[in-house]
Amino acid sequence: MKKSFAILATLVVVGALLASCGGSADAGGTPKIGVAIYKFDDTFMSYVRNAIEANATGKATIEMVDSQNAQPTQNDQVDAFLSKKAKVIAINPVDRTAAAAIIDKAKGRSTPVVFFNREPLPEDMKKWDKVYYVGAKAEQSGSMQGEIVVDYFKANPKADKNGDGVIQYIMLKGEPGHQDAELRTEFSIKAVTAAGLKVEKLAEDTAYWDRPKAVEKMKAFYAKFGDRIEVVLCNNDDMALGVIEALRQEGFFSGDKYLPVVGVDATAPALQALEQGTLLGTVLNDAKNQGKATFDIAYALATGKDPAQAGWTISDGKYVWVPYQKVTKDNYTQFK
Ligand code: GAL
Repeated sequence: MKKSFAILATLVVVGALLASCGGSADAGGTPKIGVAIYKFDDTFMSYVRNAIEANATGKATIEMVDSQNAQPTQNDQVDAFLSKKAKVIAINPVDRTAAAAIIDKAKGRSTPVVFFNREPLPEDMKKWDKVYYVGAKAEQSGSMQGEIVVDYFKANPKADKNGDGVIQYIMLKGEPGHQDAELRTEFSIKAVTAAGLKVEKLAEDTAYWDRPKAVEKMKAFYAKFGDRIEVVLCNNDDMALGVIEALRQEGFFSGDKYLPVVGVDATAPALQALEQGTLLGTVLNDAKNQGKATFDIAYALATGKDPAQAGWTISDGKYVWVPYQKVTKDNYTQFK
């Protein structure tokens, strides 16, 4: 009786030990990395997701979840990753100000965090040394968009349709508060005025990165401002494609009825629009390298290696910045 109790007790202990180690690695022994995406239904993020998964093949077990644009859902997903003992978590926050709470929880479990695409506030990034961010300098994408607009107006003086020497523009923003929305909005116009061109904002509104919302907004803008509009700047390509769709319905892009529209991301449909001559230009938001860097840093942390040796330049001990690139009809084939 005593002996069988001892065996049973040993089995229980061994079982518990196996369960506690088993949480961080799958049966093949690869480390488990929990990845939460603010929402799967986002064109650019779907490219980043694919890149993370492609890079993880054979190296790590990725558990990727859709936070469905709800921070409470994401918080629960983070809790689940931590209790299942993911080695590292990689988080694309729904609300970047929620990063502080995520960092506190992860630190409590000694689980490193790699944020990506939505940049936590600097004070939150400083909370722990095992917190990283992979992204791109939003200012740079804004400036590049502005430069595309400048080149177009300099080469086409008649694009100033009313000849008043001022560019009348519409700005369609991504989600308010998102660093990319705020900084692209600001720096695109700064680049235009820095080149000596004058601007007048007819309207600015958000379409939350979303194509159908942009169609609706643009229809309303066109109804209000009509041919006073001389250019439309959009914080991303999905919204630029929505604007183009709305303009098409008004007879644009056939004959000589044209309006310059710029976006950011260089998605596949945007490159097609460039080819067709509807989109004037975009900026490559390099999903492949952002996904690769996110995985490489997470994998280094998951395997006890120094992230500084993962093949990326790490600034201020925490940040990996992937450069943007201007894309126009002159070079778009390189990005297909
Ligand atoms: C931006 C991108 C947008 C959208 C957003 C999501 O970098 O340009 O299209 O994907 O991230 O956070």
